[in-house]
Amino acid sequence: MATSAQLSRRSFTQLVGLGAGAALLPVQARGLEERMALRAGAWLEPAKLLPKDPQNLILLNSNENPYGPSPAAREAMIEAHSVACRYPDYHADLIHEKVAAYHGVTPDMVEVTCGSTEVLKVCAMAFLAPGKRLVVADPTFEAMARYAQLAGAEVVKVPCDAAWRHDLEAMAKAAQERPGLVYLCNPNNPTGTLVSRAAIEKFLARMPAESVALVDEAYFHFADDPGYGTLLGSVKAGAKVVVARTFSKIYGMAGLRLGYAVARRDLIERMRPHQVSESWNVMACAAALASLEDKEFVERNRRLNRDARAALAAAMRRRGRGFISSETNFVCVHVGGPVRPVINAFRERGISVGRPFARLDEHIRVSLGTPEEMEKFVAAFDGIVARA
Ligand SMILES: Cc1ncc(COP(=O)(O)O)c(C=O)c1O
Repeated sequence: MATSAQLSRRSFTQLVGLGAGAALLPVQARGLEERMALRAGAWLEPAKLLPKDPQNLILLNSNENPYGPSPAAREAMIEAHSVACRYPDYHADLIHEKVAAYHGVTPDMVEVTCGSTEVLKVCAMAFLAPGKRLVVADPTFEAMARYAQLAGAEVVKVPCDAAWRHDLEAMAKAAQERPGLVYLCNPNNPTGTLVSRAAIEKFLARMPAESVALVDEAYFHFADDPGYGTLLGSVKAGAKVVVARTFSKIYGMAGLRLGYAVARRDLIERMRPHQVSESWNVMACAAALASLEDKEFVERNRRLNRDARAALAAAMRRRGRGFISSETNFVCVHVGGPVRPVINAFRERGISVGRPFARLDEHIRVSLGTPEEMEKFVAAFDGIVARA
């Protein structure tokens, strides 16, 4: 007899046509170029801006993918319209299983969340409390410290080293007291730097037994450094590590809100009660299921990002401007003075760059956009930074 999970999956497959031989397959079977042509070139255009944005700003501020979701994800969302009236149980079954299979773990080692931000919050609630400590790099993605404070934990910020990387030695020392959670954002936002997998593995070996490490791999796909690697191997080997991933970056789904955690079963069990129940949505699940299949799309985005990163680096070198070498889809550029007036000046020219960040007093964080957007950024930069 079929289990309820199997029945769920079958029903969903029939409903949205994501199963074998269903409507999506012909779309995915086509080459990416052809699918893009089918969509009348929409994929390579920057996403249309929101109606609330009358200035039609160029958005280089939130490390989004400027090209939008994959053609297969768009098709899948169109197919999924008819099931938007249903709660997402079926979809959740499917996406948990798909993510688990994708990473070679069991579904009970996966928790799918409302963006990977929810992983951060759930980890704070599950592993922190008054008397416990969160150890983070400084600067790093700021949401983690906010959630730790909400959980009543002490937040210890360990300055990045001279190359703007996590100072793992100092973080390991800080993690010995009042052990709770260590947050390793790798590659790191806002610096764009990374630490090697081997260095993190060494770090993990020094952690107190009570401690949990949360490794945020939001920018995993953009890293080219040969020493870089996911910590999923450590999860599979039984380490107390939660790996967080998101569909917001390489998959171009920031507005859809889907992320996930992969961890040991017992850690997932401790996290799950803190999640808003059914915090997924059917559109996001359908798009994510299609996106995971679309390896060509991922490769193309990586290449476009790598090209944009190299072009920006070359433009800054030509101008004698320093920048932090990046392994992500954003770059911190040295502007030689306080950042606030520079950010405001870009805004006046219709370009939104990242907000000010702790310790980066003279760097603006620029997300990588399309070639046209980056040309406009560089043209504006010449006017603004020459004056600054
Ligand atoms: C390092 C890092 N983690 C997590 C997130 C949250 O992403 P989301 O909630 O969209 O998955 C971001 C967003 O920019 C980020 O930079």
